[in-house]
Formats: sequence, structure tokens, C-alpha cells
Amino acid sequence: MLKTIKEMEKELRLDKFLGNAGVGSRSQVKVLIKKGLVTINDCKARSGDEVIDETKDVIVCRGKRIELIKYRYIMLYKPAGVVSATEDNLDKTVLDCLAKEDRKDLFPVGRLDKDTTGLLLLTNDGELSHNLLSPRKHVDKTYYVTCETNVTHTQMEHLRQGVDIGDDKMTLPALAREGKKENELYLTIREGRFHQVKRMMQAVGNKVTELKRLSMGSLVLDPNLNPGEYRPLTEAELKDLKAGSLKMPV
Ligand code: URA
Repeated sequence: MLKTIKEMEKELRLDKFLGNAGVGSRSQVKVLIKKGLVTINDCKARSGDEVIDETKDVIVCRGKRIELIKYRYIMLYKPAGVVSATEDNLDKTVLDCLAKEDRKDLFPVGRLDKDTTGLLLLTNDGELSHNLLSPRKHVDKTYYVTCETNVTHTQMEHLRQGVDIGDDKMTLPALAREGKKENELYLTIREGRFHQVKRMMQAVGNKVTELKRLSMGSLVLDPNLNPGEYRPLTEAELKDLKAGSLKMPV
């Protein structure tokens, strides 16, 4: 009998399912299957490319039921040239950086400009996304900023005090630290206004030439990732991120 698109969407390779569930890497999962430690509906799994329906099939590994994962959290090293959207008529999106089977239901938590690189969280957890983006929560975001000209002491001081970027309100005081070169700096902001870092640098008389996000709340871009690469968040990263996102600012 032919399958409906909905049914096909629920299908997943066994090794992918086990990997997503945190059972192990693809090679570790392969070993577990080979050793006969994984069953699908009480039958020993033969290989990782068996297709399962995660909403119906009962998968057991080493005697433990592996549950359907409701929420997924992916850390992406966003490359330049892709837009922070789930679909776009013109440009590649951040979801295009993911393998097809990893994309389902995910959306980016907030936006980075097309030319901005660095940490982007992708999830299907609307509540966490809301908490991280809520203007009332003031979640810190740290950027590595490269500028057209050297960053002066006066510019740093203005950034620290808050600057007028043409909105109703000045920006909140930012944390500005010297970068590795004189035209670079680390900037931590607690808001997420449109093109905020670029507008802040313009307001102090400089211009951003490169922008890379290094962290969001407690979540730090994994130095082992290259642009365009991604991995699931670890349990510890997720726990810390959730705890931080619930805190109200002091
Ligand atoms: N600020 C910007 O100007 N651009 C970004 O992508 C993120 C913060």
C-alpha cells in the first residue's frame, strides 16, 4: 500500500533516531546494532539504515526503551551567505545547512544577518525560543566584531554607556572588550534590536566589516565546529541554557 506524505515524514533511519536520542555517535550506534543490543518491536535490528516510524515503533537499546524526542536543539555555526529563516525564495537558509532528515520542524532562535557568522540555535521548542528572545529577559549575546578602522578608547566607552542608534531608547550598557587586533573587539549586548551591533558601531563612528556571534546566554559556539557544521546540544548545555532563560534580569 502506498504511504501518505505524513507517514513518510515520520520515517527515520534507525541510526539517526538513536543518534538524535543521544545513544551515541553513528559509529557507536553501529556497534550496538551489530552486537544485537537494539530491537525494533522486539525483533533484533539488522542495520542502522533500517527505517523506523518514531511515533509507532518501539525501539529498545540495551534493555532500555528509547523514547520519541519531542524537542530538538541544534547548535549551528552559521556560515556567511545564508539567511536566518526556514524558507526563502532567493537565498539558502540556515535549514539548508542541515541534512534533510535533521530539519523537521526546526526554526532559528532569532536572526543573524545574512553576512553574520557564528552561533545560531535551531530548535522546535517554542517556549525556550520565546524565553531566550524576550526583550524582558536580557539574554547576553557576545559578538566578535571586526571594524573598518581601529576602535578607539572613546568608542569603547560610548558602547559601555549605551548609544543612540535612532530608536526610542538608547541601547543598554554593553560590555566592550579589546579584541586581538586594534580594529577588533568583543561586544556583549543584552538586547536583540535589528542590526544592533552594526548600528551601534556606526553610532560611535566606526563600521562593522565582519561579525561573528560567539555566545548566547550560557551557550558558547563549539570551537570544533567549522562554518556550516552543526551538532545537537549536550544535556548540560541545554540544562544551563534553560535555567538561564528563566532567570529575570537583575
Ligand atoms: N547585530 C547585527 O548588526 N547583526 C547581526 O547579525 C547580529 C547582531
